[in-house]
This record gives sequence, C-alpha cells and structure tokens, in this order.
Amino acid sequence: MGGRRMKIIETTIVLLLSSSSIGDAQLFDVTKYGAKEDGVTSIHQALMKTWELACTSTSPSKIWIPKGKYALKEVKFSGPCKSHIELQLDGILIAPTDTGSFKTDGWISFENIDQFTLSGSGTFDGQGMHAWKFNDCHKRLKCNVLPMNLRFDFLTNAIIQGVTTLNSKNFHVNVLGCKNITFLDFNVITPEDSPNTDGIHIGRSDGVYITDSNIKTGDDCISLGDGSKNVHVTGVECGPGHGISIGSLGRYGNENPVSGVWVKNCTLTNTDNGLRIKTWPSSNRGIASNMHFEGIKMVNVGNPILIDQQYCPWNQCNTGISSLVQISNVSFKNIWGTSSTPVAVKLACSSKLPCKNVVIGGISLSYSGSTSETLSSKCSNVVPSFSGTQSPKVCST
Ligand SMILES: *[C@@H]1O[C@H](CO)[C@@H](O)[C@H](O)[C@H]1NC(C)=O
Ligand SMILES: *[C@@H]1O[C@H](CO)[C@@H](O)[C@H](O)[C@H]1NC(C)=O
Ligand SMILES: *[C@@H]1O[C@H](CO)[C@@H](O)[C@H](O)[C@H]1NC(C)=O
Repeated sequence: MGGRRMKIIETTIVLLLSSSSIGDAQLFDVTKYGAKEDGVTSIHQALMKTWELACTSTSPSKIWIPKGKYALKEVKFSGPCKSHIELQLDGILIAPTDTGSFKTDGWISFENIDQFTLSGSGTFDGQGMHAWKFNDCHKRLKCNVLPMNLRFDFLTNAIIQGVTTLNSKNFHVNVLGCKNITFLDFNVITPEDSPNTDGIHIGRSDGVYITDSNIKTGDDCISLGDGSKNVHVTGVECGPGHGISIGSLGRYGNENPVSGVWVKNCTLTNTDNGLRIKTWPSSNRGIASNMHFEGIKMVNVGNPILIDQQYCPWNQCNTGISSLVQISNVSFKNIWGTSSTPVAVKLACSSKLPCKNVVIGGISLSYSGSTSETLSSKCSNVVPSFSGTQSPKVCST
C-alpha cells in the first residue's frame, strides 16, 4: 500500500472517531455533557440534556454512558421522540440509598417512546439492601411503595439487551402498557431473601418477549399481572426466586384477561415454586387462558407445577369463598428434573369455576428431598387430559 493511500485511510479513521456518530446513529457521550464518573455526583442533568438532544433529533441517536461508576437520582425519560433512540449503558449506575428522596415508584423510568433500545454491558445498581427492611408490601395492602429499578411505561417496539439490574429496592422491572417489547440477554441479580424483588413484572401489555435471560432474585423471576397478552418466555434461567408466575389475579376488580403465554426451554433452579398460576379467592371476576409451558427443566424446585386458586398470602382474604377467575386452555408438557416438595403437581382450581381444557403431557420428576418419599399430585375441580407419560401420575387419586 502506498504512503499516500495510507494517509487517506488514517485521516478517515481520525475523522470517524472525532465525529459524533456510531454507525448511522448520532452519538451523545454523557461524559462530554458534564457527567462525572465519581460515583457521588448525580449525572441526571447530563442525562436529561443528552436525552433532550437525542429525543428531538430527526435521525437515529444514541446516548452513551461509558464504563465507570456514576451516581444517579430518580429520572424519567419521556417520549415521544422524533426517531429511533438508544441508551447504551456500559458503566454502573448507582441509586440513592435514601428512599425518602423518591417522588415516584420508579428509579429510572422510560415512557411513551416508540423504537427504543436499551443496550450495553452495564448495571443498574438499586442499592436495595438499604431499603428491604422497609418493604412490607408482601404483608400489607397499604404499604410503603419502594422504587423499582426500571419502569417501562407505554413503550412500543422496544429492545432491552445485555444490561444487568442489581439489588432493586422493589420489583426490578415493571412493564406497563407496552406493545412489542423484547428482553434479550438480560440479567437480574438479587439475594434470595430480598422481599418483593420480582425480576420482570408485566401488566396490560401485548407482545412481550423474554429471551436467553438470567434471573436470580427473592421473589418471582417473572410475574404476569392482569392484561398480559402474548407473552413469550424462552431460554430463561430462573433461580433462586419464586419461579415463573401468572398472577396473582382476582385481587382487584376490573382486571383485564391474561391470554396467550408461552414459556419454553427454561431452567428453574432452587426456586420455591416452579410454574404457577395463582388467583385470589374473591368475588372479582377474571379470565386467564391459553397458557402453555413446554420443555422446562426443574432442579430442586418446590411445587414444580402449581395452579393455586386459593392464593391468600398472610391471610389477607377469606379462603372460604371461591375464586371467580376462569382458567382455561392450559398445557404443561415435557417438564423434567427434581422436586424439593413431595407434591410435585398441584392443580387446585376454583369450585365455582373449574379449570377447563387442561392438558398434562410428559412429566418426569423425582424427589430431591432427603427422605425416600415418592412424589404425588393433588387435583381439585379439574379433569385434565393427558398426552405422554407422567411420573408422578397426575390426578390419579
Ligand atoms: C417489534 O420491535 C422490533 C424492534 O423495534 C422490530 O424490529 C420488530 O419489527 C417489531 N415487530 C413488530 C411485529 O412490529
Ligand atoms: C434453550 O435455552 C438455553 C439457555 O438456557 C439456550 O442456551 C439454548 O440455546 C436454548 N435452546 C433452544 C432450542 O432454544
Ligand atoms: C380455548 O381453546 C379452544 C380450542 O383450541 C378455543 O376454541 C377457545 O376459544 C379457547 N378459549 C379461550 C378462552 O381462549
């Protein structure tokens, strides 16, 4: 290669590096807008400034938080934006420890954005260990609502990829009113004794994809509230935690149906529950239908398969009444591994509205407890149909 040609290439590279673009997107590096990487000074102003520039840009743009530790107060990123917008987090964001400083229940919220991407190898550190002792929402209806690490409200066509949420004070992620949102290679990390730290909670959303992700937490890995539609969970590793849950439903009035849930190729390890559908005994009507679980490995899991229509933690309800949530079109197929509780399959359906069209196929579970107990199943108000073999035998007594 001639010297002159080399020079041109060099110049081009220098130009590319100094111009503010990566690929096609305009790049906004927060450290160029005053963000200090000292772990103490909140970078919210730099973030808001870059968000304003990126969100009003008519071409795709990217905000970049490079490696380093940054303190960050409560922030809300609001759309609509003029073009595709991406936030790439490669650093570690640290939440305030003082719960009194929060005005809402979200530390970092994203709302009303179309075509949003959150990417990078960084971490959202919620500093939950300073707040968990104040969390009494699992025991009381009226409680201190602590902030969640991430709120995604009314997003469409969003991708959340690569990042980690650590030690949230409350749920790690709340997905509300979203359409077509994908979590890919997403990580949740909290100790198993942290209260109410659901990994991803979904409500009133249509088209949620959770793929190849890893969730270790103190509450449900994934929980689906009312109005969850077309939710696809694939290749998720869950545990510790309380498993993958639909519900609880029926606690409140005017709940929207849950319909269309596919959980496939997941592994649950050392979780209190496995695959669970839970509804409250109450007079609130509801619908949960078309929920399919297939190809799930259980490793030392309590209650691997559980429909619980008498869900009433901390005696907050009257268990004497039946649930009015109609469960239908459910299948559990190709579920194998070990159960840490003797009752491996429990289908406790409502006496007023028995479960309809439940299919059980290919169950192969063994007991991981220390005694030589054999596994059993318990069924009420349900007559499943079977495909394949079941060990233990399901609903045989
Ligand atoms: C869902 O969103 C992704 C990311 O923006 C996009 O690539 C995909 O086409 C969308 N899917 C549908 C059905 O709109
Ligand atoms: C199943 O999930 C694992 C992650 O737990 C992933 O590595 C693997 O590719 C998935 N297999 C299929 C067939 O989706
Ligand atoms: C249950 O499945 C059947 C047949 O697959 C379908 O006709 C029915 O509409 C489904 N029920 C609900 C509530 O979606």
